[in-house]
Amino acid sequence: MVKNVIVTNLNTCEKTAKKIAKSIDAVYMKTEVSTFPDGDLYLKFKGDVKGKKLIIVESFQPNSTKAMMDIVFASNAAKQQGAKKVVVCAPYLAFMRQDKMFNAGECVSAPIMAKLFNENVDKLLTVDPHLHRILKMKDVFTIPAKNLTANQVIGDFVAKKYKAKKNLMIMGPDWESYQWADEIARIVGVEDTVLHKDRHSSRNVDVKLTEKVDLKGKTIVIVDDIISTGNTMIKACIKSRKLGAKKVIAIGVHGLFVENAFKKMEKHFDDIFTVNTVQHDSNKIDVADVFIEELSKRI
Ligand code: R5P
Repeated sequence: MVKNVIVTNLNTCEKTAKKIAKSIDAVYMKTEVSTFPDGDLYLKFKGDVKGKKLIIVESFQPNSTKAMMDIVFASNAAKQQGAKKVVVCAPYLAFMRQDKMFNAGECVSAPIMAKLFNENVDKLLTVDPHLHRILKMKDVFTIPAKNLTANQVIGDFVAKKYKAKKNLMIMGPDWESYQWADEIARIVGVEDTVLHKDRHSSRNVDVKLTEKVDLKGKTIVIVDDIISTGNTMIKACIKSRKLGAKKVIAIGVHGLFVENAFKKMEKHFDDIFTVNTVQHDSNKIDVADVFIEELSKRI
């Protein structure tokens, strides 16, 4: 038993929190999160956190604003009750995509979310956060904030599922996705290619190949960090089929699937899989192992 470590969750991730607790030999504690009749947040730890390190496992979907506030309240409540340290494991961390003012007057959310963590939590662990214009976690976080990656668990899943590697290729749908495509391809032991994406609006993208690769007769596994409207994935799938791909598979780390995206994607793809950072029927790859590896080394 790891002394003095308690793992809990708030509204999401109960299974993941229990698996983490069991694997690192810590105690799992339930936290009651509900509302008073007037709508105020009610939060109650079902155990004594005094003198303990508390690990809160919570995803920022399906309700990112609520998740943020619940984490702030839970962390402060733990400190009020004498907890020594609060570590948040956020399988999906929201607010990272609004990292600049795209239109005058808009709120730049990423540094504000980071500020709430900096002021209320001791440490953050998350998985494949959307680092685009913010390049490193330490650009906005002053607390230890580590970005873990699901590359290994995705690579293991692909290698097991598609054993015939001869006609297998990993594809990234835009240049940012090279960090997943390259590494997953290395783990599986196959080639990869990365497309060029032009984004015209939040719902309209175009993709093209940037190098001469032969997709004829191949099984193409397209990997991306976030699947939101699904348009990026769909365009990459259409392009792959045009170039002769036999099977096209989509794998997303964070399957947000907004605006009926999953149904739209099903018409194009042979299979769609996601990591369980956001709960969805397509979850086939377990994020708990990513946190367990890190927490076994240090909390
Ligand atoms: C963007 O840079 C991300 O990596 C994803 O490609 C993007 O969020 C996907 O969005 P959508 O599914 O709406 O095309």
